[in-house]
Amino acid sequence: MTKKNNNTAPGKITGDVHTKLIESYDNLKAEISRSYDQAKVYARELNDALKAMKTGDDELKKARSMMERIRQQSLIYAKELQLAHQQIEKSSLNTLEVLAEALDARDHYTSGHSKRVTDFSVHIAEIMKLPHKEVEVIKQAGLLHDIGKIGIRDEILLKPGKLTRDEYELIKQHPLKGYKMLKGLSFLENALDCILYHHEQFDGTGYPEGLKGEDIPIGARIIHVADTVDAMTTERPYRKALTLETAIDELKKFKGVLFDPSVVEAFLIIQKAL
Ligand SMILES: [Fe+2]
Repeated sequence: MTKKNNNTAPGKITGDVHTKLIESYDNLKAEISRSYDQAKVYARELNDALKAMKTGDDELKKARSMMERIRQQSLIYAKELQLAHQQIEKSSLNTLEVLAEALDARDHYTSGHSKRVTDFSVHIAEIMKLPHKEVEVIKQAGLLHDIGKIGIRDEILLKPGKLTRDEYELIKQHPLKGYKMLKGLSFLENALDCILYHHEQFDGTGYPEGLKGEDIPIGARIIHVADTVDAMTTERPYRKALTLETAIDELKKFKGVLFDPSVVEAFLIIQKAL
């Protein structure tokens, strides 16, 4: 039987996905933006024309009422374009979510990981009373936090044994790979830093930049805790799943060292409901 070749594709696939996603999103966005601007120009011009027509002549009154209808129609058209733009952003995010699910499904040990990390993270953010907009950003980042692993070969990502130093260094590149992959998608721009920094640790011993304490974005500090809990409580090729109690003991032990104390406190509140 032919052995599966794991030495090709991931890097190319990542590049292709990235290029196609950015291209299609940029094209649609530019098209909608042009139409939207044009609709606004029409509406403005019509408005100016209406203001200029101040006589009481019947014909002019008719023309004025027709132009008013056109102006209203232009505004409706502009609103529809805006909604279409939001739809495109939503479907782009859905595509990325499917990609993240596909990534989790590469390894049955991590199946559903991104979704669970997102649920934990959103719950923590709500307990911490973060603004709704920030919670939405954390939701996007939670779903996509490991998307950069798409570019890592199966033989490394799924390796059951201990990783070599070089392999570990490759794995450590996934936050930056994810960041680069999504950069350019404007609707995800606020989530990028959470993705880039989700392996930073509170004492500055994490990666990729060794950020410390509150220099690490709050979304990244939250995802870090959620990610750690989910990794500990699910089975891995090299160990059985640890209990939630063990994971909580670890959080308490490293509270203020690896983990933001306020995030750990919030997790301790939500875990009672788990
Ligand atoms: Fe990660």
